[in-house]
Amino acid sequence: MRNLFARKPLEVLLEEMKGEHRLRRVLGPVQLTSLGVGAIIGAGIFVATGAAAHNVAGPALMLSYVVSGITCVFAALCYAEFASMVPVAGSAYTYAYATLGELFAWIIGWDLVLEYAVGSATVATGWSGYFQNVLAKLGITLPAAVQSSPWRFDDGRFVSTHSYINLPAIVIVMIVTMILVKGIQESASFNAAMVMIKVAAVIMVVIVGAFYIHKANWHPFAPYGWTGITFFGKHIAGQTNAGGQPVGMLAGAAIIFFAYIGFDSVSTHTEEAKNPQRDVPIGIVVSLIVCTVLYILVVAVLTGMEKYDKLDINAPVSLAFKSAGVGWAEGIIALAGVAGITSVLLVMMLSGPRVFLAMARDGLVSRKFFADVHPRFRTPWKSTILIGIGVIIMAGLLPIDALLLLTNIGTLFAFVIVCAAVLIMRKKYPDAERPFRCPWVPFVPIMGVLACLMLMFSLPWDNWVRLFGWMAIGLCIYFFYGRKHSVMATHLEHEIAAHGAGGAYVSGVNEP
Ligand code: ALA
Repeated sequence: MRNLFARKPLEVLLEEMKGEHRLRRVLGPVQLTSLGVGAIIGAGIFVATGAAAHNVAGPALMLSYVVSGITCVFAALCYAEFASMVPVAGSAYTYAYATLGELFAWIIGWDLVLEYAVGSATVATGWSGYFQNVLAKLGITLPAAVQSSPWRFDDGRFVSTHSYINLPAIVIVMIVTMILVKGIQESASFNAAMVMIKVAAVIMVVIVGAFYIHKANWHPFAPYGWTGITFFGKHIAGQTNAGGQPVGMLAGAAIIFFAYIGFDSVSTHTEEAKNPQRDVPIGIVVSLIVCTVLYILVVAVLTGMEKYDKLDINAPVSLAFKSAGVGWAEGIIALAGVAGITSVLLVMMLSGPRVFLAMARDGLVSRKFFADVHPRFRTPWKSTILIGIGVIIMAGLLPIDALLLLTNIGTLFAFVIVCAAVLIMRKKYPDAERPFRCPWVPFVPIMGVLACLMLMFSLPWDNWVRLFGWMAIGLCIYFFYGRKHSVMATHLEHEIAAHGAGGAYVSGVNEP
C-alpha cells in the first residue's frame, strides 16, 4: 500500500534533470509557442466545427468555444505552474508523481498515452478528409475501398461505410513517424513553416469571410438550447438527440474542446527547452490565447456565412467559401487545412513517446524499450515507432467522431488531475521555487476541476465506459509489471529494510 502512494520528492525530480541521457535543449520561447499553436489549430477547427454546429450547438457554438477556451485557460495556468517548477519531460505524469503518488502517476501517464495516441488517430482521420478534398479539386478520387474507416458513427451507433480502410490516414502517420524518429530540431522547423501557413489561412478566413456574413444566419442562435448534460446516460439538463446523446451549447463545448487540445503538449517538451522556467509558461499561455481568439472569430464568420444546418460536416471551412461563391479561397483553405492538420499530428505524435520515456525512467514500463534514446538522433525512437503502429491501426479502422470523443474525455480527465495537483503541491511544498505562479489559487485550480468535470458530463456516457476500459487495461499492466519494477518502490523497500519505515530517500536513485 505504502508503495502505491509513494511520492517522488521534488528534490529528486530536480536532481534527475542533471543526469545523463537527457534530450537536447534546443527550443526557445518562439519555438515553444509555435509548437503550441502547431498542436492546437487543426482538425478541431477545420473539421469538428462543422458537425458540432450542424448537429449539436448551432451558431451558439461561438459560445461553446468561449466556454471551452476558459476551461483550458484554467488548466493552462495550472500546467504552466507545474512546468516551471518541475521542468522535466513527462508533463502531468511527473506532476502527479510528485503530488499524488505512484498509482495516480501511472493512471495519468497511461491516460496521457491515450490522449496522444487516440488524438493522433483522430487528427490523421481529419487530415485524410481534407487531403481527399484537395485531391478532388485536382480531379483525383481514391477507390472507395480505401477512402475511410469501415464504420461511421451516427448518433452513437456504428454504421457501415462500405469502405475497408482509411489509406491516406495510414500513409500520413507513417511519414510523420519517420520524421520524428529522425529528430526534434528538424521537426520543430518543419512545424514552424506549417504553423505560419495555417495561421495565415485562419486569418484569411476571418477577413475574407467577414464580407459574406448574413446576420440572419445567426438566428436562431441556440437551436439546440444552452446546456446538454447527462450523468452516465441519465438526462440532467437540455435536449438530447435521437440516440439519447446530449445536445446544446455546453454539449458543443465538450466536443470542440478537441480544438484546444495541444497546449498541454508544450509542457512535455520542457526537457528540450533552453530556458524551461520562463519559456514553457509563455509557450502554453500565449499559444492558448492566440488560438481562442482566432477560433471564436472563425466560428462567428462560418455560422454567419452559412446557416448552421447547411454547414458541411467533413470540410466545413473550405466548403463555406465555395457556397459563398468565393471559389479561389476554397482551394487555398483546403490546402492550408492539410498543412495545418499535419503539424498537429506531428506535435501529438511527438508527445506520447516522451510520456513513456518519463515512465520508463521510473521503471513503470520497460526501460530498455521505452527509455532507449537513439545514439545518433537522440530521440526515443522505439516508442515513437510503437505508438506509430498503434495510431496506424486506429486511424485506418475507426471513425473520427468516436476517436475524437475518447480523446476529449481522456484529456479532460488529465486536466482534472493537474488542477487538483496544483492545490496539493501548494500545500505540500509551499516554499518551493515557482518561477511561474498560477494566479488566484485556489480559485483557478478549483474552477479548472469543476469546468473539466462539467464538460466530461456533457459527453455521451459511453465515452466514460471506454475511458474506464482503457484504465482497467492500464491498471493490469501496472500491477503485473510497473509496481514490481518501480525504481521508487524498490528503493523504498531497501530503505525500510535498512533504516525502518522512517528511512530517508536518497536523491539521485532514479538516475537513468
Ligand atoms: N487541437 C488539435 C486539433 O484540433 C488536436 O486538431
